[in-house]
Amino acid sequence: MELDKNKMPKHIAIILDGNGRWAKKRLLPRTMGHRKGAFNVRDIARHAQELGVQYLTVFCFSTENWNRPKSEVEYIMTTPIRYFKRYKKDILNSKMRIKFIGRRDRISTELLKVFEEIENGTKDHKGLTLTLCVDYGSYDEITTAVKEIVKEIKAGKIKEDEIDAKLIENHLFTKDYPNLDLLIRTSGEIRISNFLLWQLGYTELYFTDVLWPDFDSEELEKAIASFQKRNRRFGGLNDNK
Ligand code: IPE
Ligand code: MG
Repeated sequence: MELDKNKMPKHIAIILDGNGRWAKKRLLPRTMGHRKGAFNVRDIARHAQELGVQYLTVFCFSTENWNRPKSEVEYIMTTPIRYFKRYKKDILNSKMRIKFIGRRDRISTELLKVFEEIENGTKDHKGLTLTLCVDYGSYDEITTAVKEIVKEIKAGKIKEDEIDAKLIENHLFTKDYPNLDLLIRTSGEIRISNFLLWQLGYTELYFTDVLWPDFDSEELEKAIASFQKRNRRFGGLNDNK
């Protein structure tokens, strides 16, 4: 597909959805959809990197996903551990910088260790920054930011009238990230589900019926092509008006 190299989104986020339905259609257990979905995160991240995208932020497990059956939660939460055991070399030798955002107090110590090992092992990589959101929810992220700001005021580090959008942004997980240009959600659901609520302020939204395990390189390019046709004004007017 013809994409304009000069109009590439710098930062794309994805709400991956439809793993379960993908498996059900094939009479497979839901976990097989998650397995296929995890490999697809890798493939889409590689393709995004080839296209010159700088940041890809993927919603893998929400603060609400704990409400799913225990066996499914267990499968999803051990996937990075299994994956890292098997593909450690690939991850550490790749160009990607990998980060994890979300609560860290409810995941297993084994998973936490894997997150830290991957983050430390890739922190100097210069390619795509791939952020995996695990036990992530915007309400939690913003609540934590508010608590930190209050603490800093009480400690005399900042004054109340210094609170502005920039300061709030600087207390979010995404503090050093470029603005979020494009959000993609797969599987036909048209909602945000407590994902990056603050960061989505001026993001272009793209929804597709394709289920996440079927969302391939061509689908990614379609989403970017749609983004490139948008007229982004950020509340202003076009230059020629
Ligand atoms: C997305 O696929 C993966 C997670 C949210 C963990 P789903 O598991 O939501 O798949 P569907 O929506 O049931 O098809
Ligand atoms: Mg779903």
